[in-house]
Amino acid sequence: MRAGLLLHFDDEQDAAMRLAQAGGLATATVARHRFPDGEIRLRLPQRLPDRVVLLRTLDRPNEKLVDLLLAAHTARSLGAKHLTLVAPYLAYMRQDIAFHPGEAISQRIVGRFLADLFDAVITVDPHLHRVVTLQEAVPVAQAMVLSGAPLLADLIAERRPGALLLGPDSESAQWVSQAAERHGFAHAVCTKRRHGDHAVDIELPEVPLAGLPVVLVDDVASTGQTLAQAARLLRAAGAATVDVAVTHALFAGDAVERLRGAGVGEIWSTDCIAHPSNAVFMADVLARALDPIL
Ligand code: R5P
Repeated sequence: MRAGLLLHFDDEQDAAMRLAQAGGLATATVARHRFPDGEIRLRLPQRLPDRVVLLRTLDRPNEKLVDLLLAAHTARSLGAKHLTLVAPYLAYMRQDIAFHPGEAISQRIVGRFLADLFDAVITVDPHLHRVVTLQEAVPVAQAMVLSGAPLLADLIAERRPGALLLGPDSESAQWVSQAAERHGFAHAVCTKRRHGDHAVDIELPEVPLAGLPVVLVDDVASTGQTLAQAARLLRAAGAATVDVAVTHALFAGDAVERLRGAGVGEIWSTDCIAHPSNAVFMADVLARALDPIL
């Protein structure tokens, strides 16, 4: 067993156990009570070691950010000297500029909030677009970015050898090229214009598609509109199969049905967010990232 303690919430018990086993870490649960009026009470172990790791993936982030605020301050008051946040999905990274005057730049604000609470932050495929490093968004002493793309690429190589990997937009090029290079897949990206939460236009790249198995690769699927639009166009262009591989399975509302309706076959995701599509497990990768910290 290593020095340090992994704290987790009971709604992330499975992911926490996988990480604890991969990293040889002792674990403890943060007991969470939600009062009838929506307020939250947390209870941590009475005494904590110097080094504490808190696992909290930040899908459905609004309440979880309050969890982090309460847990981090309490952990310090109970003896933790060094606090690491493992947030496999890091929310609020997409709003990195004010697209319209007066808009909150959520990435910067949430990043500062996390940096004030933690000494280190580890995450997977954060949506960094106009910002290059995680540290610019989350200015902590140690900011570590991991990727789900290599393991998703391994899965695709096994299930769809010879597939064309396609990113739905220019931002996805970073993940698509990383996955493609690992197994020598052909790859390309589409052009996307977003008009609203549910409205996107996609243009396919000018590459041969007819008769090919195509896997759409992206960091995150939320409403599924982006991937569904791309899948519809690919089907119309004669792709033999269209499957989807994403790091973060947000899949809001009826996103999965939307993808099925657009002709998507398999949907694969990492376990950064727990979802029935999880096919790749990040525990070993996360545990290795904790080595230099613990
Ligand atoms: C944005 O550029 C992201 O990489 C995703 O493509 C986007 O967030 C997906 O959103 P939705 O599933 O709602 O189309």
